[in-house]
Amino acid sequence: MRHFLDVDDLAAPELVEVLDRADRQDHGLPLHGKGVALLFAKPSLRTRHSCEMGVIQLGGHPVSVRPDEIGVNDRETPADIARVLAGYHALLGARVFAHADLVGMAEPAAVPVINLLSDDAHPCQALTDLLTMRQVFGELQGRTVAWIGDHNNVARSLALGASLSGMALRFGCPEGYGPSPTDIDQFLALGALDVTVVHRPEEAAKGADAVHTDVWTSMGFEAEADDRDRAFEGFMVDDAVMAGAHDGAVFMHCLPAHRGEEVSATVIDGPASVVIQQAHNRLHAFRALAWWLAEENHR
Ligand code: CP
Repeated sequence: MRHFLDVDDLAAPELVEVLDRADRQDHGLPLHGKGVALLFAKPSLRTRHSCEMGVIQLGGHPVSVRPDEIGVNDRETPADIARVLAGYHALLGARVFAHADLVGMAEPAAVPVINLLSDDAHPCQALTDLLTMRQVFGELQGRTVAWIGDHNNVARSLALGASLSGMALRFGCPEGYGPSPTDIDQFLALGALDVTVVHRPEEAAKGADAVHTDVWTSMGFEAEADDRDRAFEGFMVDDAVMAGAHDGAVFMHCLPAHRGEEVSATVIDGPASVVIQQAHNRLHAFRALAWWLAEENHR
């Protein structure tokens, strides 16, 4: 059974195949008459709507479940949830806190499990980010992506996908918030052209084709918010940071954003920003992934 718990669950040619499908309209109705369970242990705007509409466009019926309706590890174990839902649904998507919960669902699941965000990874967001950069640049190979801020779940999955796509990675993170040496080895092993870690945002953005950031405190890390605000002071992506990027560079953010914290309003609402195209691509990327997984698991 093929699951999608992080981007490197796809080989590089499979990643290209999914991105190609995101730009296609000939998907047909591969989920006709089938259900897709979408579990949310955390809030969501983009993920819930893009997944539900993607399933509907493939002919399926999405069933979104709020945290109080299931209680992962509280009312039921991840394994029991997955075993039961696999009897009703063709796919199971889940947004959880602990990544181990997804692994616990995937292990016994008789249907593909899709990570809709965990503390470690946000691979559906990464598909969208790669798709958006490919739409802007034509191809990803050889381009440079900069990540400014926390090397969080979104950054990790983006870096895996960018590595599989042959991109160069530049991280601008405060000390203690960047990728580990193990992460860097993994990016290089997957095909990253180059990996650079610096501690100033201007330096990270220098020469980049796309500058990404995210909130300084991700969902589930609220207790660290004060420490993080102090650590990330000076890491806002503003016009001065973007000025050092490559000509035609784009600004990207998975949203929701905090204007005046990790990004200035002049950048996120300015001409270099592609954040709304990026958000809309969540639909196309998820539809492509669900289409590919449905076919791949019925060979
Ligand atoms: N980017 C993202 O995952 O948005 P939501 O949290 O609103 O789903």
